[in-house]
Amino acid sequence: MKKTIWIKHAAQLATLASEGKGARSKEAMSELGLIEDGSVWIEDGVIQAVGTTKELEKRFSSFAHEAEVVDASNLLVTPGLVDPHTHVVYGGSREREFEMRLEGATYMDIMNAGGGIHATTRMTREATEEELIVQTMRRLDSFLAHGVTTVEGKSGYGMNLETELKQLRVMKKLQEQHPIDLVPTFMGAHAVPKEFKGREDEFVDHLIHDMLPVVAGEKLAEFNDVFCEKGVFTPEQSERVLEAGKRFGLIPKIHADEIESYGGAELAAKVGSISAEHLLKASDQGIKAMAKSGTIACLLPATALYLREEAAAGRKMIDEGVAVAISTDCNPGSSPTTSMPLVMNLACISMRLTPAEALTAATYNAACAINREKQVGSLEVGKQADIVLWKVKNYQELQYLFGVNHVKSVWKKGVRVV
Ligand code: NIG
Ligand code: FE
Repeated sequence: MKKTIWIKHAAQLATLASEGKGARSKEAMSELGLIEDGSVWIEDGVIQAVGTTKELEKRFSSFAHEAEVVDASNLLVTPGLVDPHTHVVYGGSREREFEMRLEGATYMDIMNAGGGIHATTRMTREATEEELIVQTMRRLDSFLAHGVTTVEGKSGYGMNLETELKQLRVMKKLQEQHPIDLVPTFMGAHAVPKEFKGREDEFVDHLIHDMLPVVAGEKLAEFNDVFCEKGVFTPEQSERVLEAGKRFGLIPKIHADEIESYGGAELAAKVGSISAEHLLKASDQGIKAMAKSGTIACLLPATALYLREEAAAGRKMIDEGVAVAISTDCNPGSSPTTSMPLVMNLACISMRLTPAEALTAATYNAACAINREKQVGSLEVGKQADIVLWKVKNYQELQYLFGVNHVKSVWKKGVRVV
């Protein structure tokens, strides 16, 4: 028997309908496809119709008795949020570093002293696959509770083949065990592991010749990411990593210009990266180059706040024609949060996105940043029924009442999961 669900009478339905046109920029970032007294008709987890309740009543009157009706009166209804950039699979935690940074240490000081990414790498290498599954599962539950139904996840706390594969396999297993769709990225180039200290180029060779082929061979990742940053990987080394990934069919992503302006945005445009992340210190030329190449800016305002840095120039990027997505960057060091609603709030407050742009950045554009815009990110016929009902009456209120979880219920492929 077909399972039919009818969500009806939404105070406001933000469809984000995009007809597969690709990432939105400029004014298109404000087009939410709003419907008052909105309805969504779902059959077997797939959206079959979207419109006003009146329209759907007319069209489906003879099947209405078969449907489970969900009353969305007084509620905002949106697509499930998409988080296009996380480091969600990791062992342990780093609360002591949080204190150290408040006492004056910088992120890079801590990392160079063997903490930061290196500390999590130690803990992730030590953790069993089972332990990582349990810890990651808890974080995914929290994502779901905050209305997030698709999450990109990176390896990068192994930096040796064994642990990188362990992280990626954990994601593959979680795909089967958790309702969230996990999209895997290989990030072996997250830092230079201590065994390769002072031999950065050798590590890059090792990654290209010994890690990438195995990861790609086992089809464990779709994307390939690199931390292009002064003191980590140079733009030249980053380019080698990303070009090598392309030869194995992995789509480039890049942590760019997070701590210092380093040519990362320019490199993203040059290698045809699908997105460039962070961009706190992106140069004007870099922003222009990204607008021209259609590289999506994946901005992480919670990370900027947590590192007590000025957020990326989101407003300026949109005005310059860059398509912007936003993300939690969920990781144990610079952004231990799973709250995309908070990230939307911060996108407005610290990057001056409008409430409408922030919602686009967390749904449709976020889906584009991980190549999932055909399946998720908007409420359109034929797409997965990934839907959130929020206890607010419109999208402005969602951004205005900040720092609070307004989720009423979450539907993943037509099944209620929260
Ligand atoms: O995106 N910048 C590099 N990587 C992560 C942080 C990882 C960590 O501190 O563990 C980021 O902020
Ligand atoms: Fe990151």
